[in-house]
Amino acid sequence: LAHLLTLEGLPASILTAILDTAAPFTEVGEREVKKLPLLRGKSVFNVFFENSTRTRTTFEIAAKRLSADVINLNVSTSSTSKGETLLDTVDNLCAMGADMFVMRHASSGAPYLLAQHLRATGRDHISVVNAGDGRHAHPTQGLLDMYTIRHYKKDFTNLTVAVVGDVLHSRVARSEIAALTTLGVPEVRVIGPKTLLPTDVERMGVRVFHDMREGLKGVDVVMMLRLQNERMQGALLPSSQEYFKVWGLTPEKLALAKPDAIVMHPGPMNRGVEIDSAVADGGNAVILPQVTFGIAVRMAVMSMLAGH
Ligand code: CP
Repeated sequence: LAHLLTLEGLPASILTAILDTAAPFTEVGEREVKKLPLLRGKSVFNVFFENSTRTRTTFEIAAKRLSADVINLNVSTSSTSKGETLLDTVDNLCAMGADMFVMRHASSGAPYLLAQHLRATGRDHISVVNAGDGRHAHPTQGLLDMYTIRHYKKDFTNLTVAVVGDVLHSRVARSEIAALTTLGVPEVRVIGPKTLLPTDVERMGVRVFHDMREGLKGVDVVMMLRLQNERMQGALLPSSQEYFKVWGLTPEKLALAKPDAIVMHPGPMNRGVEIDSAVADGGNAVILPQVTFGIAVRMAVMSMLAGH
């Protein structure tokens, strides 16, 4: 791997190799295990042009556990506010010795632009990890979600998985669906109102449900999505209460899934909008383990990009 920009098009062998590489890293950080030296002497630049709690922090923890130097660019106080372009900013960070960029950006394709620029300027040794670009892709979220499913369900090839809510504006959903289909999940369901699903959603290889109760029947995994209001300029939105009534995951709706179904959410959650607190904090939820697994998965991605 030179960069990790998307999961679409990556073969099952690479996805599985990342999950397998992550497995022993779940132990790193426990008291008895020391830091690993795999990124010693490397500088990882976290460049987040959009807010983040989980992704930015777990990338930082992961890089530090691999012994990298981590530099977090505070974009809101950086010179981008004085008109400096993305590529000029990147050139300056390269001049400071960057070996890897972890980039989040509101514009779909921004990490591709960065990777292309590095190639065009002869800096192929610098890797780019997409930490979420617009509504396009969030590959490490997709990977940590696959890790979580494999941890709890062991085998992808006998599962029914439902992705529920605002798929249209969700980079997480695109990465999840790409990974689920590549890893051989026989039935991926997408559940949501027509207005929040892409018009060509069937081309993603999924079964579409506009009735949440129908869609949840017998599923093994429920992956909830929040309403991504920040990407809905001008859209006529239902109120939170209206949305919750029809599309919120309540204990009563979850009872239609298999009794041992796991409930996932990439975060941030909006309680009382797409998910009831009784579900978010209930026995089927694996939402916080997802966050923890994210550290190991990001360690795997960064160590593989560094050639290990
Ligand atoms: N899941 C996710 O990307 O969360 P953050 O926006 O907090 O990073």
